Amino acid sequence: MFQILTTLLLEVQLSTASALFTVEVPQQLYIVEYRSNVSMECRFPVNGSLNLGLLTVVWEQKRQGKSKEVYTLRGGKAFPSSQHHDYIGRAAVLCSELKLGRVILHINSVKITDAGSYLCLIDYQGVDYKYITLEVKASYRRINTKVIRKAGEDKFAFMCQSEGFPLAEVFWQNEKNISLSRSANTTYVLTTDGLYNVTSTLTFKPNTTENYSCVFWNKEVGGETAAHISTSALISTDHSGQKSLILFIVLTCVIVAVLASALVIFQTRKLFRNWRPQKDRRRKLNPNQKDKKRDDFETQTEALHLSTVTASRDTGSVDL
Ligand SMILES: *[C@@H]1O[C@H](CO)[C@@H](O)[C@H](O)[C@H]1NC(C)=O
Ligand SMILES: *[C@@H]1O[C@H](CO)[C@@H](O)[C@H](O)[C@H]1NC(C)=O
Ligand SMILES: *[C@@H]1O[C@H](CO)[C@@H](O)[C@H](O)[C@H]1NC(C)=O
Ligand SMILES: *[C@@H]1O[C@H](CO)[C@@H](O)[C@H](O)[C@H]1NC(C)=O
Ligand SMILES: *[C@@H]1O[C@H](CO)[C@@H](O)[C@H](O)[C@H]1NC(C)=O
Ligand SMILES: *[C@@H]1O[C@H](CO)[C@@H](O)[C@H](O)[C@H]1NC(C)=O
Ligand SMILES: *[C@@H]1O[C@H](CO)[C@@H](O)[C@H](O)[C@H]1NC(C)=O
Repeated sequence: MFQILTTLLLEVQLSTASALFTVEVPQQLYIVEYRSNVSMECRFPVNGSLNLGLLTVVWEQKRQGKSKEVYTLRGGKAFPSSQHHDYIGRAAVLCSELKLGRVILHINSVKITDAGSYLCLIDYQGVDYKYITLEVKASYRRINTKVIRKAGEDKFAFMCQSEGFPLAEVFWQNEKNISLSRSANTTYVLTTDGLYNVTSTLTFKPNTTENYSCVFWNKEVGGETAAHISTSALISTDHSGQKSLILFIVLTCVIVAVLASALVIFQTRKLFRNWRPQKDRRRKLNPNQKDKKRDDFETQTEALHLSTVTASRDTGSVDL
């Protein structure tokens, strides 16, 4: 195939003197969105009705010093054997337009690697070629956001992640458009599709109720997309966090109080149980006590105190 191309190019050089046959391009630069379709056009002169058998068209892509054959038409027929595998099933020339002298190359679902220079070479009773430039961009359309609370700190990590092309810069700002980008860390990896997977993380202590935004600025294509992170949700979780802390403290206090009173009651009962046998003993020792009126509380208490003393003395005497 490249032999054909070389022969044709040689022919072009030989025929430049006559310059009768010229290829024209209505549009020199195409900028398309990743995964969209593109139709690039070049024109050649047709006098009367087209003789397809005499027509040869070669579309070739040049990118980073490498050439790929995109689509070839020889004697009016597609010549797929030499087509580069990147373009199989994705590139075609619209045959219906040829009779009007229009060679339209259609590429489906454009990839990042489709960008480059496209050679359009036409041989039709004369040879000429032109170059067309294709640029592919991918907007950072969908921005994924995430907020992570730093464990053990009152700081938050705000994360924005998106994919696009070419490489975007990420800016962070608050509602007053004050830049916070200094505290941000932006990294990227290349995806298998050749897109930049950009992640930017802003780590800081947020001020009360403010909304923050990350802006993906695609400098080369002048595109800008933004995502907003509202801190109101964070602040409320902050408050609920404080509330639960207070609740925890209150509950702990209540439990401690209940336990303490239970202990006091238990101890009191134990003391009371210790007193009873002594009282009983005293009663046995002093049977006259039985006849005393129990209604009078004060006297009874006094008696109890007394009995304790007497009882201890009694035991002492018993031991002796
Ligand atoms: C691209 O072209 C294909 C067929 O050629 C068509 O099915 C598809 O809808 C087109 N996509 C867009 C975005 O125009
Ligand atoms: C177009 O074809 C006619 C005859 O078919 C010829 O006379 C004329 O010179 C041709 N014009 C060009 C520009 O080739
Ligand atoms: C911040 O900038 C945006 C656009 O960049 C503008 O719409 C908005 O009014 C600005 N806000 C303030 C407070 O300057
Ligand atoms: C930025 O993040 C990357 C990966 O998460 C990390 O390796 C790097 O140390 C960070 N840089 C700064 C300045 O924090
Ligand atoms: C982009 O990177 C993030 C983490 O940095 C990862 O979770 C995500 O899956 C990546 N996306 C693609 C399409 O590679
Ligand atoms: C928080 O507010 C103070 C003053 O109110 C300001 O100096 C500081 O820059 C703010 N911090 C952020 C991250 O917005
Ligand atoms: C932050 O944004 C939310 C919605 O995006 C809005 O309801 C809220 O009022 C904003 N907060 C402030 C402090 O402007």
